[in-house]
Amino acid sequence: MEHGHDITLTVNGTTVSRRVEPRQHLVDFLREDLGLTGSHAGCEHGVCGACTVRVNGDIVRGCLMLAVQANGCKVETIEGLSDSKELAGLQKAFHEKNALQCGFCTPGMLMAAQDLVKRGGKPTREQIREHISGNYCRCTGYQAIVDAIEEVTHGQG
Ligand code: FES
Ligand code: FES
Repeated sequence: MEHGHDITLTVNGTTVSRRVEPRQHLVDFLREDLGLTGSHAGCEHGVCGACTVRVNGDIVRGCLMLAVQANGCKVETIEGLSDSKELAGLQKAFHEKNALQCGFCTPGMLMAAQDLVKRGGKPTREQIREHISGNYCRCTGYQAIVDAIEEVTHGQG
């Protein structure tokens, strides 16, 4: 009988040690064990992007990665990037452009958008659309989201 694995990782700058079930996914670990409910669990099949988090600097789908696979990793969530103000520019632009309605997709969308912002440069609207193509939004039609990301990426030096 499997009794789980002990993992130690960094979550939003804090070292966390927990015992996890072998099949538990990272997004469920973050939400249920750590109370970090900003990352949403939507499709849970790698399709919608609502669960997007950052692991060792790269965005991943938290519903596809197992918690045990995050052992030793540096995990950052929407909560961490909000607290550090890394997302401040995007959050402001999303509000100003009405790029969120129900808000379900928004945390994952912001994580994906910030991944593009931190690369620097001025992506075209096509490149922005391509970058967020794995993040589904039922509400906005994407136009306002692309507007917001364009404003931030084109406003940076
Ligand atoms: S919940 Fe992970 S991609 Fe949909
Ligand atoms: S704002 Fe509702 S899913 Fe995007």
